[in-house]
Amino acid sequence: MKSLIYVMKKGLKGVELTYFFNFVALFFMVLATVFTSFLSKVLVDALSLQLYKAEYIERFVIYMISLGKGEQFIYDNLYCLPIAIVISSFILALVTIARNLLRYKCSASINKTLQYGLFSHLQRQPYSYFQKAKPGDLIQTCTRDVDVVRKFMIMELNQTAYTLFIVVLCFAILMEISYKLTLVSLSLLPFMFFYSFFLIKEVRNRYRKADDSEAMMTDDISENLNSIRVVKAYNEEIYEIKRFEDKLKDYENKYKKWRIFSSFFFSSSDIFIFATSALAIIYSLYLVYKKEITEGTLVVAYTFINMIVWPLRDTATMLSNLGQAFASADRIKKLFLEEEEDINSGIEAKINGDIEFKNVSFAYQDRKNQYALKNISFSIKKGQTVAILGKTGSGKSTLLLLLTRLFDPSQGHIYLDGIDITKISKRCVRKNIVPVLQDPFLFSKSIKDNIALSNENASDSDIYKATKIADLDKTIEGFEKGFDTPVGEKGVTLSGGQKQRVAIARTVLSKASVMIFDDSLSAVDSKTDLNIRKSLANLDKRTTKIIITSRINSAKSADKIIVLDKGQIEEIGTHEELIKNNGLYEKLDKIQERRQ
Ligand SMILES: Nc1ncnc2c1ncn2[C@@H]1O[C@H](COP(=O)(O)OP(=O)(O)OP(=O)(O)O)[C@@H](O)[C@H]1O
Ligand SMILES: [Mg+2]
Repeated sequence: MKSLIYVMKKGLKGVELTYFFNFVALFFMVLATVFTSFLSKVLVDALSLQLYKAEYIERFVIYMISLGKGEQFIYDNLYCLPIAIVISSFILALVTIARNLLRYKCSASINKTLQYGLFSHLQRQPYSYFQKAKPGDLIQTCTRDVDVVRKFMIMELNQTAYTLFIVVLCFAILMEISYKLTLVSLSLLPFMFFYSFFLIKEVRNRYRKADDSEAMMTDDISENLNSIRVVKAYNEEIYEIKRFEDKLKDYENKYKKWRIFSSFFFSSSDIFIFATSALAIIYSLYLVYKKEITEGTLVVAYTFINMIVWPLRDTATMLSNLGQAFASADRIKKLFLEEEEDINSGIEAKINGDIEFKNVSFAYQDRKNQYALKNISFSIKKGQTVAILGKTGSGKSTLLLLLTRLFDPSQGHIYLDGIDITKISKRCVRKNIVPVLQDPFLFSKSIKDNIALSNENASDSDIYKATKIADLDKTIEGFEKGFDTPVGEKGVTLSGGQKQRVAIARTVLSKASVMIFDDSLSAVDSKTDLNIRKSLANLDKRTTKIIITSRINSAKSADKIIVLDKGQIEEIGTHEELIKNNGLYEKLDKIQERRQ
């Protein structure tokens, strides 16, 4: 309950008054509905010359319509009643339109506020958060859970208020007109309510199963499409079709079970409703016969009883939906309460590019007792090119994560220009240390926009220079639309090597003082590799370059080579020194040379 109120408050930001007035309009809508129906009673009673039997409420209505002149005026001017009904219906229509407008305004705003809030909150989560959260769950919270809460606020709460207003009002008026008729006619209601309340749970239960099965089917299609290359390459089509067919069957089964039960539920609960109507008619005919009520009362009683029972049946459905709204609100609140990453506090300094690791150790959260990096110490001088070489899983990319402050060391310190990195704001660190990630990602934008991402002030000629350094200029010229060629999911598919080079151009364009290339040339041929390394060497001499690689060839020309093994430093030195050392580096060199 607390979560729901928390999320509702958040969602209503800026439209609190609109939301309130929606309920005010709803109240007037109910009032106009009841008043219009009540006028038909007065009309019937006037036609059968029974207005003299009128009591409090009718007296008041007669007084209003005859403008204070009394029932004789109505007998003389019968046409005023249909006119009053038309005017009243017209007012009802106006209030209904106003209420709907207010409701839709709130609905759109709640959606926007919550989704915007969640998305921007997610963007500000630390990297470690995404390591433990499942993307599917996050997407569900941002879309479906928001929708459930929005529907609850816009439909179900409104429906409840409507039911409450109309039931109270109709019940009070009916009691005033004839309490006997009211109590007898509505005697079946409690049974209907409990019947609905218990059965609807099973309806929901079956619905949830069908829904889960459908979600699994969607996941299956999505996974299949994403892996279609593997499916084709391994001749897995028939297997995949069969698997999908099983899922479809499961869904069909559950869907049928849900549909059958829900139609049984709705039809059977309708029996209560029709029985109530019948009871009302029979009993009021009896009372008319005994002259205890007028024909007009029969008409209004029948109308009001119908106005009470239908929404009451839906209340049971609504109450059973409440659980879903609670669960969704819980998830939304939990996400909102996750602490945002603070990228702003700390020192803002121009980093020159001196780097020092002092006894740095690091373990990932879910592998606390296994260090990905252990006791790492080394230093890099501004402008140096340093290679970090090691076998797969030796901790090279982890080093990059620490240097960009996506994680901070578990033990030890990293210094940038002599300042402890944790004292420098993350924004500043990430502005000055720019990596080419091992698995480069391109957005669904043009090549140019993908490159310009790292430097919004870059001119076209800067972008061109960066692509030349990344040996990408000729490739781009080959595309019909050149720099404007769309790439990413919705554009041209680039090869692995082309993607890597776009990412290199992006990093080069940033003009950062430290650039890290994580296995960035693994997918290009050795000639291109050489070209790019040459251009990078000619890059601004003040730039510190860290080249992460498992190839001796890419590391060879570096000023310093740091050899990592199982998260620890095995050796440090230049190519010549390490060859002389006869250690791991020399062994790798031999193996790789033999291969070539
Ligand atoms: N997010 C993570 N959570 C837990 N363990 C991780 C995570 N990322 C990496 N590891 C583990 O940390 C160790 C070092 O991984 P890292 O990615 O740094 O290796 P690498 O040297 O970059 O390897 P490669 O050359 O294959 O890219 C590995 O044992 C890996 O399984
Ligand atoms: Mg790696």
